[in-house]
Amino acid sequence: MRTDKKYVLGISYGHHESAVCLTTEDGQWISLREECLSRVKGDYRFPVKSALYLIRSQGVGLSQIMGVCLHEKPLRTWLGHGFTQRLSPDHYRLKAQHLRSGNLSFETQAKSIFKVETKQVHYANHYVSHYLNAKAFSKSIGRHFCLVLDGYGEGASGALFSGDEISWRELWRFKVNQSFGLLYAALTDWAGYNGNADEHKVMALAAYGKPIHRDFIRKHVICGSGAAFEVNKHYFNYDDVTLAGYTTAFCEVFGEQNDRSIYSDISSSMSKIAADVIASFQAVIEECVSEIIEEILIDARPDTTLLLSGGLFLNVKLVSRITRANPKNRIIVPPSPGDAGSAIGAAHFLSAKFGWPFQPRADAFCGPKLEPLSDYPHLFECVQLQDSTAYMYDQLSSGNAVAVYQGFAECGPRSLGVRSLFAGLETAESVRNLNELTKKRERFRPIAPMLSEETLAAPVAVNGSDMMLSRWMGTLVHCDQIVGPSSSALGNIRHIDGSMRMQITSGREMKTAGTHISLRSIVDSGMTLGNTSLNIAGDPTVFTPLDLYTNLRRMGLGGVFADDVYYTVK
Ligand SMILES: [Fe+2]
Repeated sequence: MRTDKKYVLGISYGHHESAVCLTTEDGQWISLREECLSRVKGDYRFPVKSALYLIRSQGVGLSQIMGVCLHEKPLRTWLGHGFTQRLSPDHYRLKAQHLRSGNLSFETQAKSIFKVETKQVHYANHYVSHYLNAKAFSKSIGRHFCLVLDGYGEGASGALFSGDEISWRELWRFKVNQSFGLLYAALTDWAGYNGNADEHKVMALAAYGKPIHRDFIRKHVICGSGAAFEVNKHYFNYDDVTLAGYTTAFCEVFGEQNDRSIYSDISSSMSKIAADVIASFQAVIEECVSEIIEEILIDARPDTTLLLSGGLFLNVKLVSRITRANPKNRIIVPPSPGDAGSAIGAAHFLSAKFGWPFQPRADAFCGPKLEPLSDYPHLFECVQLQDSTAYMYDQLSSGNAVAVYQGFAECGPRSLGVRSLFAGLETAESVRNLNELTKKRERFRPIAPMLSEETLAAPVAVNGSDMMLSRWMGTLVHCDQIVGPSSSALGNIRHIDGSMRMQITSGREMKTAGTHISLRSIVDSGMTLGNTSLNIAGDPTVFTPLDLYTNLRRMGLGGVFADDVYYTVK
């Protein structure tokens, strides 16, 4: 490696998921979330562990770092929210605390950790960071639009950009009282989960409900149409951080929840009431975002490319509705559209400022290569198998969970076969074992399947971009569109409404990711697998061999497929 090569760092932290992106002057980049190393789920602190890991693992000296860039302008974020009306004394006390504990101290921290000078500390606009994150996954896009919708940043809740390969222009900003991100977080809290963390669980609950409150919500709660909609403050509190995100008026209309234990019996009347409310809000959000997109594309060429970024687009149900409604448009959502991904956008921004290239990618394996287990003989023992593929197949067929740990770490919330637990799908018991006993996940969240593109007898994606998204966020597919697996296998993994989040991969994609050779053979052979992240529910996905050892022990698994062989746990 050249020792005079120059680098910049993009950093996001201070809200819910901190991350770092290390970029070279020739446009190569690599990204990592802080939670991978700190082992704190959704860690929002300065990503010092992940930054130092990337720097050391790539052999970079601190003198080679030309600049660091934060994903937002923190003073604008601090001033832009929470001063709009008379709020509680506790609210102002917390605001005052954020002056010291939030990312307003970015410059001091960056100077002390990376030994940079004041002139090397940079700030990207928050929505530009989200936009450039999406652009980092968009090869040869030409002229395009980018819609960003998130919870909150710099006094706004989203933005619309137009751009081409090198430049961009902001066309529109969404106000804080239009925040769908804050709305979904409040709904998540109301349902008994943790807002800004468990939204995917609440989205899964929507499948069990019917949108019976849709008309009421459109008339009284989310009023207006297209980009001019507003969320009625009577039902949601977006201002006072010491109070719940939903109001007493909300509970008077939709009832009180707050207890997640009701979902252990998903057919109970209480969980049905909650699911109906969630399904109604999900339906209205889908409608409103679809209207905004219609407005954006109304005068555009029919094949205009649309990038979608911001935490709201982690919602795969919403994204699938958009791709299906716009089959002629190329629609791109980055693998990590939320704030973790905006570290990539911040690095992209600073690279552009320095006049450096930034190489777009078409895969989600933007993290470091996982360490080989052969370096940890005190934890793992290599087993000489005659045929590791046959052994993996036997394990899957006999209902055992199979752990795989090999390749380049994914960015984004979903495990894509590098750090995954797999189950064969033919027996309900094997899926139940993996979901409820090994992973300890909620019963109402079926395991998502993974299958090879080559084994699909009929295309299920609406266009190339839908296929691309299906690789990292999955695509919403109905049972009857899939012809590979048996109907009993599909019955074990489908949602109650018959849908599933299918991850469609290919031999080429799995080779890029560096996945285990036996896994590649099995997926290529046409076997559909249940795929979930390698961790116990609620923990970050394993990253180091030590995490792997601890998690395998806790889950009661005796071995792991890694380094193209099989290891047992000592
Ligand atoms: Fe954001």
